[in-house]
Amino acid sequence: LCHMQYISGFGNECVSEDPRCPGSLPEGQNNPQVCPYNLYAEQLSGSAFTCPRSTNKRSWLYRILPSVSHKPFESIDQGHITHNWDEVDPDPNQLRWKPFEIPKASQKRVDFVSGLHTLCGAGDIRSNNGLAIHIFLCNISMTCHLPRKGKLLIYTEFGKMLVQPNEICVIQRGMRFSIDVFEETRGYILEVYGIHFELPDLGPIGANGLANPRDFLIPVAWYEDRQVPGGYTVINKYQGKLFAAKQDVSPFNVVAWHGNYTPYKYNLENFTVINSVAFDHADPSIFTVLTAKSLRPGVAIADFVIFPPRWGVADKTFRPPYYHRNCMSEFMGLIRGHYEAKQGGFLPGGGSLHSTMTPHGPDADCFEKASKAKLAPERIADGTMAFMFESSLSLAVTKWGLEASMCLDKNYYKCWEPLKSHFTPNSRNPTESN
Ligand SMILES: [Fe+2]
Repeated sequence: LCHMQYISGFGNECVSEDPRCPGSLPEGQNNPQVCPYNLYAEQLSGSAFTCPRSTNKRSWLYRILPSVSHKPFESIDQGHITHNWDEVDPDPNQLRWKPFEIPKASQKRVDFVSGLHTLCGAGDIRSNNGLAIHIFLCNISMTCHLPRKGKLLIYTEFGKMLVQPNEICVIQRGMRFSIDVFEETRGYILEVYGIHFELPDLGPIGANGLANPRDFLIPVAWYEDRQVPGGYTVINKYQGKLFAAKQDVSPFNVVAWHGNYTPYKYNLENFTVINSVAFDHADPSIFTVLTAKSLRPGVAIADFVIFPPRWGVADKTFRPPYYHRNCMSEFMGLIRGHYEAKQGGFLPGGGSLHSTMTPHGPDADCFEKASKAKLAPERIADGTMAFMFESSLSLAVTKWGLEASMCLDKNYYKCWEPLKSHFTPNSRNPTESN
């Protein structure tokens, strides 16, 4: 685990061979009559064949048996996954959840799939337009491997990734994977239907900054040549429902691959933070790590945005996030630490949802402090990582989110109740309001 290898670079055209089989990638063609080491060639398409070059995504996999070597798929228990956005009536209120509770392994053994809980979402999975936000709460691995604490070991057809806290990973549509956890584990999942995450355009920022392409890490080819009659189960999330098929061979049987359609991971500490160095704020889009674009220019189906440790230096400025109402929906989560606009109540492993045009902003305490603070350069958010999934879709909450999770904080609105008027109609000088 300490010697996990990766290829670096976002969206690169990569080649990778398991070192146990040198020369396993065919030379000069994709689909030879007989592949080296007598492997099967299989293409995995992540985009339409005819997408323009800049958005065309596919990989060629050279594997011991093709993916089609499986028994028929059969419907299985759906657990807490749903794509039904009409389970409960819409709720325009600010919503906040206390940390979602992870089941204790001593009471109930829950793996990644059975621990998936859909919290909110919108759109239609069949027409490839929409998103879902899921919370995973699990305590056992999907397979048996050596335990390591505090990490997520992800097996994919492309190789293995070790994902540590404060790292994110992207597993793209159709990629088979298995997740090992080593303790009671919780995380957030953003699922976008039918589109792929890109790095945001940088405009006048220039060629460098925000998430830099070279910090994205792609696994290297790794295979297991294992056959156990009926010993492997592939779970397929198809049109929003779960199906399972048995097969005799490990799905992680890819000896070599090449292409630009791969899983990848990224350490949020590598994000180059950019913001105003004089006064006022840049909008939070300045913190965008990845974006999944809609067809409307500048409008995302989902942006993944972070609020990393940084310096606050703006003069004559109310430095916390401003009050606002947004045509976009904002789901926020906290990986660790304390979020700057709300010191209590918004806790690691919890979440909040401010959907379309729902007003929100700093709590009363934060407003009072920041309005009076002496504006020296100061560290903001040290030891903290808050994030936001921002979407142009109006998100609906599931029954689990509102009721069954039992984590909804019914008192959230109270954090704004102490806000009081400081209006001084006879004096323009703001200092006299104190
Ligand atoms: Fe907001």
